[in-house]
Amino acid sequence: MLLQLATEVRTRAYAPYSRFQVGAAIRTASGATHVGCNVENVAYPEGTCAEAGAIAAMVAAGETRIAEILVIADSPAPVPPCGGCRQKIAEFAAPEVKVTLCTTDGQQKVMTVAELLPGVFTAAHMARTEPDAEPGAKADR
Ligand code: THU
Repeated sequence: MLLQLATEVRTRAYAPYSRFQVGAAIRTASGATHVGCNVENVAYPEGTCAEAGAIAAMVAAGETRIAEILVIADSPAPVPPCGGCRQKIAEFAAPEVKVTLCTTDGQQKVMTVAELLPGVFTAAHMARTEPDAEPGAKADR
């Protein structure tokens, strides 16, 4: 299911600069699925990853909990999410959530979110700070 969805959306990836097309598919706790592909830009850092696109689609559809995620690319080995996407996935997925890394020639590697991002930064690490009562109030300090 996720494999088929990610394979399909990958064909629509906009990757004229790297020519590396990536597809991602998410299943949420409700059973709904959301997909994304990488979208590059002539200003290279402005490109977005397939995982980020799938997460954006999930949030836009009103869901925030990833039950499972799969990523696919035409790669010699199962393609792992980049560092930024590991953090983005961890925002919406429990540590034990399955992440399936795939290649278009049929290789698969299954990992967990915790394996991909041990020692993840969470909101709990900000427990000793208090948000500004008036945002901008300390701007000139
Ligand atoms: N890319 C993804 O979309 N997801 C990954 O997990 C790895 C990398 C994209 C970003 C860029 O468009 C291209 O692949 C090459 O880095």
